[in-house]
Amino acid sequence: MSSFSLKLSIMFAIFSLFSRSNAQLSATFYDSTCPNVSAVVRGVLEQAAQNDVRIGARLIRLHYHDCFVDGCDGSVLLDNADGIDSEKDAAPNESLVDAFPVVDDIKTAVENVCPGVVSCADILAIASQISVSLAGGQAWEVQLGRRDSRTANKAGASSLPGPREGLANLTSKFSDVGLDATDLVALSGAHTFGQAQCKSFSDRLYDFQSTGNPDPNLDATYSETLRQTCPQGGDENALANLDLVTANDFDTSYFTNLQNKKGLLQSDQDLFSTTGADTIDIVNRFANSQSEFFDSFGQSMIKMGNISPLTGSSGEIRLDCKRVN
Ligand code: HEM
Ligand SMILES: *[C@@H]1O[C@H](CO)[C@@H](O)[C@H](O)[C@H]1NC(C)=O
Ligand SMILES: *[C@@H]1O[C@H](CO)[C@@H](O)[C@H](O)[C@H]1NC(C)=O
Ligand SMILES: *[C@@H]1O[C@H](CO)[C@@H](O)[C@H](O)[C@H]1NC(C)=O
Repeated sequence: MSSFSLKLSIMFAIFSLFSRSNAQLSATFYDSTCPNVSAVVRGVLEQAAQNDVRIGARLIRLHYHDCFVDGCDGSVLLDNADGIDSEKDAAPNESLVDAFPVVDDIKTAVENVCPGVVSCADILAIASQISVSLAGGQAWEVQLGRRDSRTANKAGASSLPGPREGLANLTSKFSDVGLDATDLVALSGAHTFGQAQCKSFSDRLYDFQSTGNPDPNLDATYSETLRQTCPQGGDENALANLDLVTANDFDTSYFTNLQNKKGLLQSDQDLFSTTGADTIDIVNRFANSQSEFFDSFGQSMIKMGNISPLTGSSGEIRLDCKRVN
């Protein structure tokens, strides 16, 4: 081997190592292989939203659950099978079940125009952005090129952040995946739409942290309304809007709610009510400026979407999002 070609192959080896560990997603990934993918996803979502006003909220939550467990690799979509312990059976799965058939509908529509090209992980990323746009939010440049896993991680799904974890734990779980306090506050702003079941917050109404009293950081009038939705000993699956002001709109009222002690989940209210927390200023900034919130939200979605994607020749492009090829 000549010293020139040796140098070249060393450079190539270094380059491949570099590109493997820093594989970049890109906004133009499907420009030549599936240029119409966004329009196809949008078409299915607009249709689905006519039957289920919550579908966008469900889908962005699914993308979040996907990304936080071993990266954005579509693992959350896999059903139980030989060697697959489905993440769908992990405790934080509440309310996700109705999103899966819509993911399948999107996948079918996309396969019809570009077979075997678009990953299920990317479908969740695209659907999240379109859902936010359809609800009145702002578009961001979705980064694409993820591939799908051949494995699931149910234990990982079970340790997703919970609504009663406290700000210190939330901060540390976000920091574990490279997300900071601004990302935590911005992404929690996704709770500007969608719903939660009584079981996710009813302790705050009656017996907060075993005190026998309601959560002192919950507005009394709001608490009274929530008690009607969630009577003691009643149906723990009953639903309340995460944003009591504009239930289905993507806007800043989530943050003004927090300023008014009207966050639904403890994990929401803690962002504003935890004494001395650096998240308080961020909540105030987003409450005061829709454009700051929208810009930050887009940036944080791109960051979250970048958590350990499979790229290059890792993983596969699943043909059916529910099972490995
Ligand atoms: C900060 C940590 C988070 C916690 C503790 C948390 C917790 C929860 C809980 C408990 C629910 C209600 C589930 C139920 O009762 O059915 C929920 C719903 C939801 N979450 Fe989060 N979440 C967090 C972060 C996020 C992030 C980062 C996103 C997206 C970017 C997100 C988007 C949503 C949406 C849209 C809903 C409503 C879904 C529906 O209507 O079905 N959440 N979350
Ligand atoms: C792209 O997809 C949309 C929605 O399915 C469809 O209406 C449109 O005609 C498609 N455009 C092209 C160029 O195929
Ligand atoms: C959610 O997980 C629980 C186990 O924690 C399981 O019993 C339930 O069937 C799962 N729900 C769905 C919709 O998959
Ligand atoms: C916070 O995390 C620690 C360590 O993982 C855990 O022991 C503790 O129970 C968590 N706190 C709450 C409120 O869940």
